[in-house]
Amino acid sequence: MNTLLVATHNIGKIKEIKLFLSDLNLKIISLSDLNITKVVEEKDDTFLSNSLLKSKEYHRLSGVITLAEDSGLEVEALNGRPGVLSARYGGENLSDSDRNDLLLSEMKDVKGLERSARYVSVVTLVSNNEISSSCGYLNGYITHQRIGIKGFGYDPIFWVPSKSNTTANLSVRQKNEISHRGKALEGIKPVLKRLYKIV
Ligand code: IMP
Repeated sequence: MNTLLVATHNIGKIKEIKLFLSDLNLKIISLSDLNITKVVEEKDDTFLSNSLLKSKEYHRLSGVITLAEDSGLEVEALNGRPGVLSARYGGENLSDSDRNDLLLSEMKDVKGLERSARYVSVVTLVSNNEISSSCGYLNGYITHQRIGIKGFGYDPIFWVPSKSNTTANLSVRQKNEISHRGKALEGIKPVLKRLYKIV
C-alpha cells in the first residue's frame, strides 16, 4: 500500500502538502488518522534538526514512511527572529493573529526595504532504510498591517513582491507554486517517486 504519513498537527501545512503531492496518488494519512497525539518537542536550534527529530520519532511510532516539516519566518531587522520559535513566538498561549500583532509592533519603526524577511521550510522523509531532507525559501517583506485571511501563521503580514500580495491572499495552489514549502517538497518528490516506485 502506498501510504505516506504527513506528520504534523498543523492543518494549514497538511492542506498545502496534500495538494502538492496529490499527483503521486499516495494514500496520505495524518497523525490524527493514527490517533497519534504526541507532540514532539522542537528543542533544537535549526530547522533541519527539528525536522529530523519529528520525522524519526513519528516514523518510530507509526512504522509508516513519514514526512515531517519544520518551518518558520526569519525577519532580517529582528536578527532572524522568530526563526525556529515561529510557532511559539511570544508564548504558547498566543493565537496566530496575536503573533502577527506582536511582530508588527516590534517592526513599527522599521522602514521600507529594511522590512525584508524569508520563510524557510525543511522537509525530511524517513523510511526503514533511509533519511532524506530538502530545504526551500520564500523571500518577502513584512507588511504594516494584516492583509488577507487565507493561509495560516504569518501569512497575513508576509508580502510577496512577485504576487503584489500577501500569502494570505493566495489560494493554496498559488502559494504552493512559490512557497518555501513547495520548493522543499519539490526537492523531496524524486525520493518519494523512487521509494514508492512511481514512474
Ligand atoms: P513548526 O514547523 O511546527 O515549528 O511551525 C512553523 C511555524 O512557522 C508555523 O506555526 C507558522 O507560525 C510559521 N510558518 C511556517 N510556514 C508558514 C507559512 O507558510 N505561512 C505562515 N506561517 C508559516
